[in-house]
Amino acid sequence: MKNEFGGSWTERKVIILEKYVHAYLKIMNNKNFHLTYFDGFAGSGDIKIGKKESFKVIAGAGKRIIQITDPIGFDIYYFVEKNENKRLQLDADLKATRNDENIFTVTDDCNDALLRFSAFISSTKKRRGLAFLDPFGMNLDWNTLESLKGLGVDLWILCPTGVGANRLLKRDSDISDAWWERLERFFGIGRNDIANSIYQEYTNTNLFGEESLATVKASKANQKLFEIYKNKMLSIFDFVSEPYIMVNKNKSIMYHFFCASNNATAVKLANSIMGSAIKK
Ligand SMILES: C[S@@+](CC[C@H](N)C(=O)[O-])C[C@H]1O[C@@H](n2cnc3c(N)ncnc32)[C@H](O)[C@@H]1O
Repeated sequence: MKNEFGGSWTERKVIILEKYVHAYLKIMNNKNFHLTYFDGFAGSGDIKIGKKESFKVIAGAGKRIIQITDPIGFDIYYFVEKNENKRLQLDADLKATRNDENIFTVTDDCNDALLRFSAFISSTKKRRGLAFLDPFGMNLDWNTLESLKGLGVDLWILCPTGVGANRLLKRDSDISDAWWERLERFFGIGRNDIANSIYQEYTNTNLFGEESLATVKASKANQKLFEIYKNKMLSIFDFVSEPYIMVNKNKSIMYHFFCASNNATAVKLANSIMGSAIKK
C-alpha cells in the first residue's frame, strides 16, 4: 500500500481505516459472506486539512475504500451524508473513481440510515458489514448504535470526546437542560451518571467558617468520557480496541478513534494497525 502514516491526525485516521479494510477483505476472501461497507458521515469526497490560506486536500475515506478490490471488494457500498450538496459532490467523485452500480450515496441522517443497515445485515446469516462513523460532533444517538448489537459488523467510530461532550460539561456544572439531554442521547445514560464521573462535590468554608457545597470538574475529563463511551460500547460489542487519540496543536484531546467488534481477531488487528500509527 502506498500510503504510510504521515501527515495530520485526520490523514492518519483515514489511513488506519484503509489499512484495516485491506486486511479485512483479505480475511473475508473465500469466506462466502455478502459484505456491505457502510459510511454514516460520508462527507464530500475530499478532506481539506489546515488553514484557509494554506490548506492541503487529501482523498476522503470513501474514495480510498472503493479502490480496495484486491483480492475482493465489498458487495455493496452505502454512503450517507446529510448535506445534499456534499452528497452530490461525493457521488460525482466516487463515480469518477470507480463506476459501479453497487456503490450508493444517499442524503439522509445517519441515525435513520444506520437502523436500515442493521436490519439489512441481520436479515440473513450470510451478511457481514463494516461500518465507519466519522462525525464532526455529537450527531449520533446511542439508541441507534444499539441496533448493531449481536451483528457481524466491525465498527470504526470517532468519539468527539473533546470537541463535543467535554465542551458541554462546563467547569461550573451549570448546564442547560437541552445540553444534558444531548449528552444523555449521546452516551445512552442519565445525567447523574455522567455528572458522577466528571464532577466531584466538596465543602467550601469561608473566612467566617460558613460552609457551602461546591463542584469541581475532573482533571482528565476527556479520558473519563472515553471510558464511559467505551464501557457502553462493551454492552453492544464483545471487544473494543485501544483508542487512537487525536489532539489539536495545543495538545488538547479532540477525538478518540477506535474499533469495536464481536470478533477478537478484528480488534487485535485494529490494535496492531493503530500501534504502528502511534509509533510514527
Ligand atoms: C468529518 S466529516 C466526514 C469526512 C469523511 N469521513 C471523509 O473521510 O471524507 C462529517 C460529515 O458528516 C455530515 N453529517 C453531519 N451530521 C450528519 C448526520 N446526522 N447524518 C449524516 N451526515 C451528517 C457532515 O455534513 C460532514 O460532511
